[in-house]
Amino acid sequence: MSEAGSEHKRRASLAPRRATPRLAAGRARALGLPTRGTTNANRLRRVDRWIQATQVPRLRDAARPLVVDLGYGSSAVTTLELAERLAPEVPGLEVVGLEIDPARVAAVADDRDPPRVDFRVGGFELAGLSPVLVRAFNVLRQYDEASAARAWETMCAALGPGGVLVEGTCDEWGRRATWVALDADGPLTLTLAARVADLDRPSDLAERLPKALIHHNVPGRPVHALLQALDAAWAAAAGLSTFGPRQRWTAAVQALADDGWPLVGSTRRWRHGELTVRWSAVAPA
Ligand SMILES: C[S@@+](CC[C@H](N)C(=O)[O-])C[C@H]1O[C@@H](n2cnc3c(N)ncnc32)[C@H](O)[C@@H]1O
Repeated sequence: MSEAGSEHKRRASLAPRRATPRLAAGRARALGLPTRGTTNANRLRRVDRWIQATQVPRLRDAARPLVVDLGYGSSAVTTLELAERLAPEVPGLEVVGLEIDPARVAAVADDRDPPRVDFRVGGFELAGLSPVLVRAFNVLRQYDEASAARAWETMCAALGPGGVLVEGTCDEWGRRATWVALDADGPLTLTLAARVADLDRPSDLAERLPKALIHHNVPGRPVHALLQALDAAWAAAAGLSTFGPRQRWTAAVQALADDGWPLVGSTRRWRHGELTVRWSAVAPA
């Protein structure tokens, strides 16, 4: 088990399992451990576009449209981008970046502009906040699978009513990404998103699967079957390459839908190099 994993396990075992502590912001003990802070401008554009396309009604309907960006890393850039992307569509939007590393919170003091954008120390308990949306990107990759599962539980228990957690992973420049959307009852969907021009085959995304799935991408497991089916459909659509890789991706995703894979959301998302599938189709057995 990694250092972060064993420490989180130790701390999690001290905390009540269902009833996550709901201490006032600033008093909550931050759950988790600091990890590498790597981030980059525009790295999270794919998940942000998906959030814009699918989560704005949820935020608009909320009495307090509060978004948490958990584990923003060594600079404020992706939190500020999330706020800039959502603010025009969500009146009264508040975005709070949480970091478990106090030095990283101190380092972004000049970027604070509360209540529009703020930065605080916090961990999986979400610092006592009750957000409508949590984006946690490239945070759980550095924990072991069991710790990541407990982190899901802790974050989902802290969500506000009707809230959603979007937890995922991407490469350094955001060209390959995958994420899981969860609500208080558990995982809902898995999304794959890529700059499809860079893909040899869709299963190239396997290395970016969330912690909950990455060790289950082996023959006989559902997520492996999904990636294999997508590779086969991608190969069968090779003739469409002359019209561009997005056309080829769209045709491959359509083939999966035709084969009965429970795809979710607007087919327009496919043109962005995306695919969203019901969690039940990929959940580890
Ligand atoms: C790789 S950076 C990701 C930065 C940014 N989200 C991105 O995707 O570019 C991971 C950050 O998560 C922070 N982190 C790790 N565990 C955390 C936790 N339990 N709560 C809050 N932040 C955490 C680390 O300190 C680190 O700064």
